[in-house]
Amino acid sequence: MEITIDQRNQLIARAIQIRERAYAPYSGYAVGAALLTENGKIFTGVNVENAAYPASICAERTAVFKAVSEGEKAFIAIAVATENAGSPCGSCRQVLSEFGLDMLVYMVDPEGNIREEATVQELLPFAFQPSDLPGRA
Ligand code: THU
Repeated sequence: MEITIDQRNQLIARAIQIRERAYAPYSGYAVGAALLTENGKIFTGVNVENAAYPASICAERTAVFKAVSEGEKAFIAIAVATENAGSPCGSCRQVLSEFGLDMLVYMVDPEGNIREEATVQELLPFAFQPSDLPGRA
């Protein structure tokens, strides 16, 4: 499904806005994500760190888990806002790939510039997919 320019701009604005809520006292690297569903809803997420470092969660996965918890699984695009338009980590790529390799990923800086744009397929070639579990998906 196509994304309109308005939807894209809105998604980027929401990712930048929600980034202020990141809980990143250890890394100091705040991340905001905004995920667009096929029916036009936006779910946001931030990274939430923990004193026990590995218990932390990334912004992208927060957004996906919020959306799935609310019954949404069809996603068009995700915007990820960081200080340097950083790229989604491998775990987040894997989680995104579960719900569609065609999803667009915008990596944006705090000024709203899209520094990179790619599909999940491009970010994670040869993804392990539900269909790789014979008889289960
Ligand atoms: N982080 C994200 O939220 N998303 C990514 O894709 C990259 C990394 C977070 C995890 C951690 O809280 C901080 O950024 C530094 O790694």
